[in-house]
Amino acid sequence: MILSTFFFSTGLEKIALGRVGVLLLAGGQGTRLGVDYPKGMYNVGLPSQKTLYQIQAERIRRLEEMAAQRFNGIQGNGIAWYIMTSEHTKEPTLEFFAKHNYFGLKKENLVVFEQGMLPCFTFDGKIILDSKSKIAKSPDGNGGLYRALREKKILDDVERRGIEYLHVYCVDNILVKLADPIFMGYAIDKGADCAAKTVEKSQPEEAVGVVCRVDGKYQVVEYSEITLETAEKRNQDGRLTFSAGNICNHFFTTSFLRDIIDNQEHSLKHHIAKKKIPTVDELGNRFTPKAPNGIKMEKFVFDVFQFSKKFVVWDVVREEEFSPLKNADGAAKDTPTSARHDLYSLHERYLRAAGGIFIDKSNTIIPPLTNGVNGTNGHEANNNDIEKCGLKRPEVIICEISPLVSYAGEGLAELVAGKKLQQPFLLRANEEH
Ligand code: UTP
Repeated sequence: MILSTFFFSTGLEKIALGRVGVLLLAGGQGTRLGVDYPKGMYNVGLPSQKTLYQIQAERIRRLEEMAAQRFNGIQGNGIAWYIMTSEHTKEPTLEFFAKHNYFGLKKENLVVFEQGMLPCFTFDGKIILDSKSKIAKSPDGNGGLYRALREKKILDDVERRGIEYLHVYCVDNILVKLADPIFMGYAIDKGADCAAKTVEKSQPEEAVGVVCRVDGKYQVVEYSEITLETAEKRNQDGRLTFSAGNICNHFFTTSFLRDIIDNQEHSLKHHIAKKKIPTVDELGNRFTPKAPNGIKMEKFVFDVFQFSKKFVVWDVVREEEFSPLKNADGAAKDTPTSARHDLYSLHERYLRAAGGIFIDKSNTIIPPLTNGVNGTNGHEANNNDIEKCGLKRPEVIICEISPLVSYAGEGLAELVAGKKLQQPFLLRANEEH
């Protein structure tokens, strides 16, 4: 706890000094979610109706505010936010931010750039046609970042602003803590040039890559690349040996990235993904095949771990930091509903810890999800309450805290301690009323 306070302070100070930037990987096609606009513009149906982009923008604003309060102002322009898009997502992203007045961020702090595209091939190496006059192309993977950083002169911009550390993350994690001062502070304190946030794998079969060391070098090994026997291997304490699930949440120093783009980028290999690639039949009619018909070639953002001279991992609690939006509702996991519910559960815990009391319409106290986990000041119900009122608690309590009010549960006690909160509960900042 004391250590995290120290790391938090270290990270926040670097933010106040203008040394921290964030970089969002948002060039994916979001095919599983199935919307024809950038995933960041997706509204998962929270009471506030905020989109992923807005939630993230507001977390940046809150961090800037916290840094400024703690260190008597913030140097330079605050946190620069780089957004990597692709051919399909760049224009709609730019229009969306402009239309919403950059969600209160400084316009000059938002840098939207485009990653490269590569042709798609059939399994026997022929280029696939998207229409009679156009070849099928797809973004070159989130590891296309490194090439784009060089070609679009984005790293030059990072250096020009004096940013020394970047937090790189994926667009789809609704719980993402942008530029998390604890994670940044930890990596900075350890002198790391590259770091990954991970969550413990829930079970051996969980289809996530694991961060591990292979022949002395750090890398992410995909689930499909190891045998079940290896995935099931356990340590003496019963925990999985390869447990560090990769959540696409990384720290890089600017100097590390400079070395990557100047010297290493060309040696990163493409991975092959078999996909259903829309194409045309002999008559030129476009269709989407029912089974994979070709390959997309992608580089991965984590493939640079191997070049790190000092690599560290920061393992976090899944329920607090990771809930990706990958699929449309109806799928087994990672849907708009699961994203919404994970955010509600986390915010419920924050509010209970701050002393808020949840009640239903008949003024009956709703007990916490897991007895004894939530709350610190004795306001929540205990087993006796549950028995007395015969109450079955709902699976989720609809509650949402605006990121403008709280980044990670801080500052809530003065707003909710001892107060009765009825769902749907939305805690908004003054400017949002
Ligand atoms: P995913 O692998 O989940 O892909 O990307 P996706 O495009 O979002 O979704 P599907 O697979 O088409 O359903 C993980 C992260 O990497 C980014 C995505 O935007 C997401 O934040 N990404 C992916 C890129 O920035 N560029 C790419 O070429 C691919």
